[in-house]
Amino acid sequence: MSDDFSAMSMTVKAHYEKYVYPDFPRLASVRVCDTYALNLESLWARFNGEPLDPTLSRILLAGCGSFSPYPTAVANPKARITALDLSKTNLRKAKQHTWLHLRFNVDFIEGDLIEAVDLFGEESFHFIDCYGVIHHMRDDASAWQTLHTLLKPGAFARIMVYSRQARRSIQAIRWAMRLLQIQDVRKLKALCRSAKAGSRFRECLDATPEAAFDAGLADLFLHPYAKTYTLDALLKKLGRAGLEPLLFIHPGAWADIDAEMARLRTLESERALTANFILFAGRQEDAWMRRGWEHLKARRATCISLNPVIRKALPLFPILPLKPAPKLGFENPAIDLCGKLLLSRFKKPVSRSSIEPAHLETVEKYLQALFLIETVS
Ligand SMILES: C[S@@+](CC[C@H](N)C(=O)[O-])C[C@H]1O[C@@H](n2cnc3c(N)ncnc32)[C@H](O)[C@@H]1O
Repeated sequence: MSDDFSAMSMTVKAHYEKYVYPDFPRLASVRVCDTYALNLESLWARFNGEPLDPTLSRILLAGCGSFSPYPTAVANPKARITALDLSKTNLRKAKQHTWLHLRFNVDFIEGDLIEAVDLFGEESFHFIDCYGVIHHMRDDASAWQTLHTLLKPGAFARIMVYSRQARRSIQAIRWAMRLLQIQDVRKLKALCRSAKAGSRFRECLDATPEAAFDAGLADLFLHPYAKTYTLDALLKKLGRAGLEPLLFIHPGAWADIDAEMARLRTLESERALTANFILFAGRQEDAWMRRGWEHLKARRATCISLNPVIRKALPLFPILPLKPAPKLGFENPAIDLCGKLLLSRFKKPVSRSSIEPAHLETVEKYLQALFLIETVS
């Protein structure tokens, strides 16, 4: 790594040693059902149409922060999970959250994503979660490349990076803080308190939930390095690393990739894009496998079964409707009593051809939401 890149990694590390992110209370817990979209068996079925043995599955949390290992371990109790982060403090807190909830299938490793290929040797992963990390890396080209190298055939990464449009007010304020030489949260909070109603600063604070807590404020306005991407810049970076988008999942995203990209370009040209980019990306060389799965799916010779997380959550809500928090960009359908009875039929795989026409619409809704998963029969 060049000296410049390495110095920036150290500065970013120092930031996260000081400001744990996210800064949730030690006893914070997640509802099992809200982890449904992190379940690897279900994601693997969505993108590849194949069952995946959970005991053999490998997950990397690349830049795990202080919390994500815990919900990922809840969603994947049998998988081996590696949580990598630059920050010792974030790792310590992540370990506490995970162990407090008696989840022990996570290995915690302090290190730089840029060096992960050397760190892991021959090891590769079925799923890499890299959420809110790459935009903090000066050498992002190497980071994208690293993701590609660490993915197994058919594997995918979940990525969140800042959108130039959505982030423009925050970036402007961040620069202002640098010019004003504001470097600690106490001074920043004093400035926030004095922000006038109607000012761009006040509007930005009011519109950004993270501004409500110290670690969020520090991440927004005191971060030493945060770049942003236009959609086309992001696609170019992905493409150069041999990656391609599989599904966008930011709020309001459309399921069809091309339609979503067209929608995002329109929003960017109208300066109206308010969401950062959240997506699943896979290796370009696996596109033929995914096409094969789409083809099989279209022939309807498939089996449908329950997402293992939803299977576990169903009995926890015997009467009350269950509504998992939206994680794929759209509001989830509620699982009411009828929904529960219908879903219960999929505890064992059911062939698609045996589903009564009257239930197909609901089944499709649950498939889209990933409560149900579809695989080759
Ligand atoms: C904004 S936090 C996101 C944490 C987590 N992914 C989440 O979504 O809650 C960014 C995390 O990435 C880590 N990070 C930043 N640059 C990194 C790098 N080059 N290698 C490994 N971790 C990195 C930081 O230490 C921090 O914990």
